[in-house]
Amino acid sequence: MYQFKKVIDLQHYITTLKSKGLTVGFAPTMGALHEGHLSLLRMAKAECDISVCSIFVNPTQFNDDSDLEKYPRTIPEDIAILTKIDTDIVFIPPVSEVYPPSLDTTLKLDFAELATVMEGAFRPGHFDGMAQVVNRLLDIVQPDKLYMGQKDYQQFAIVQNMLHQLDSDIKIVRCPIIREADGLAMSSRNVRLKSELRQQVPRIYQALLKVKEMAPHFPVQEIKDTFAESLDLPEFRLEYIEIADGETLQPVTNIEEHKSVVACVAVWAGDVRLIDNILF
Ligand code: PAJ
Repeated sequence: MYQFKKVIDLQHYITTLKSKGLTVGFAPTMGALHEGHLSLLRMAKAECDISVCSIFVNPTQFNDDSDLEKYPRTIPEDIAILTKIDTDIVFIPPVSEVYPPSLDTTLKLDFAELATVMEGAFRPGHFDGMAQVVNRLLDIVQPDKLYMGQKDYQQFAIVQNMLHQLDSDIKIVRCPIIREADGLAMSSRNVRLKSELRQQVPRIYQALLKVKEMAPHFPVQEIKDTFAESLDLPEFRLEYIEIADGETLQPVTNIEEHKSVVACVAVWAGDVRLIDNILF
């Protein structure tokens, strides 16, 4: 596996590969890698000649300084795991390479209602920072395909919309949510869960399965109330449950009128914020 820290070195190497006609699959990450991340890279490796992973904890997408500070950083372990699964390239830039003072990387796109609901409502500025870094990384890596997870459903929809607005040729691939054996969606933040809470958090997925089961038969409000009740524990705080159109992400009132529907949730378990979703 080749490791790069500098944009110029990575670009030079990728240009050489592309001039040989090789295709590039790219999965951007913030590190503390787990099986969810690896599933994207395995898919990139299966569908493209070269797989590229970036590890960059992007300061511009954190709206909470302590979340940024506490975000797990495990670069040596990440490198070992990427080597093991035969990733071809890892890019681990410092902030100065991603955001050089001489370059204006702000992205002037409007994601309209896609970005005002759910995570957009609760984490102001998050999606602007996320889109800014993904756009910058795409400019650097120039992949043929971009691999992102359904775990961050709204993030995926916004990046897809960004590529559309930019008239990009990059194909975006949505990879399924990888879960622990007990159903907890894998996340880099899970390592911060205290052990008693770790026992409780699989309830989130169990409650989402219940939501899916209820969906064809019950009114939306009743489904949401049932979800909230099943997480009614002192250590949990439900930030939102939204039942939304799978494409526009706007709340639905009548599930059967929509081609795809997704239930998205954000739950605080102690001081750890977890998100999850299920598609019907
Ligand atoms: P991060 O949380 O590290 O996630 C990187 C990618 O892995 C995202 O596409 C995310 O959806 C996917 N992923 C995370 N957990 C997953 C799981 N359990 N199953 C499947 N895929 C999973 O998302 C980000 O980083 C950042 O916002 C980023 C896009 C890198 C921009 O900074």
